[in-house]
Amino acid sequence: MISRRQLMGATAMVAAGQITARAQPKPTPVRPLVVSTWRHGLAANEAAWKILSKGGRALDAVEAGVRESESDPKVGSVGLGGLPDASGQVTLDACIMDENGDCGSVAYLKGIENPISVARLVMENTPHVMMVGEGAKQFALANGFKEKALLTPESIKQWEKWKVEHPDAVKHREVNIENHDTIGMVSIDTKGNLSGACTTSGLAWKLPGRVGDSPIIGAGLYVDNEVGAASATGVGEAVIRAVGSFLVVELMRQGNSPQDACRLATERVIAKNPDWKEFQVGFIAIDKLGRSGGYCIQPGFDYAVYDKQMGNRMVTAPSRIPAK
Ligand code: GLY
Repeated sequence: MISRRQLMGATAMVAAGQITARAQPKPTPVRPLVVSTWRHGLAANEAAWKILSKGGRALDAVEAGVRESESDPKVGSVGLGGLPDASGQVTLDACIMDENGDCGSVAYLKGIENPISVARLVMENTPHVMMVGEGAKQFALANGFKEKALLTPESIKQWEKWKVEHPDAVKHREVNIENHDTIGMVSIDTKGNLSGACTTSGLAWKLPGRVGDSPIIGAGLYVDNEVGAASATGVGEAVIRAVGSFLVVELMRQGNSPQDACRLATERVIAKNPDWKEFQVGFIAIDKLGRSGGYCIQPGFDYAVYDKQMGNRMVTAPSRIPAK
């Protein structure tokens, strides 16, 4: 039997930090891992996995991954084939962030199919974080990007239909549905380093000049290599007000799981927007252990998760408004 003296001695050693609790086995981190928003995330994850599975860097994986959606004319919310603003112009927003906290961003970029790669170039080849509009386009062209018409027959058809239905009005907000928004992608590589990317053509039929959350570091995307990474989808104005992705990462820093952090950040968006029932916002997140999660306001948001154990699959995010 343990004597009182032994017990007191052991207690004193625990208090002094000489004995640590033995019963807590360290969880094995899931690596590599890539998570991205919406069903177009499946194809994007495949492209990212080609790099991750060979031991490549998460930064290269997220760039290659979201380029897949940008270049797919069938994805009507990103890059080529993205739906235009009210005046019929396609304007693109994107940002990227790596394990060192370095980041790059472009906004209101016209005529360039892969804005994410321009954002990476801003990060790596300039002293700046964000470039916009004509300056960003000239920077891209000067660095070898080719100008391309981003409207497709399908996006022109949809814009013409919208114009007929809304001759005087701009529809500012739209509840996003499957396959109809930003791609945000977050990843952890075999070395345990995190990166993220986010790219969109923004809200369809937006006022010309409007920029959403996707190119704004902290709103559409945030990465902290000590903690985790998060990205947002949905109505950008509401995400910006809550500095959504930064908030998700800070909530993980406080000890919340990625799932709980996404839920709590969504609750903050709800608290800051009295009309929250009228629009969609969703978050995805991963942490340093390779745990992932997602949460949204409206039912219907799903995200793609790819790891070695379970392969590439869709996960339906729980929503604040329950599914019917
Ligand atoms: N989340 C995309 C946008 O609002 O532009």
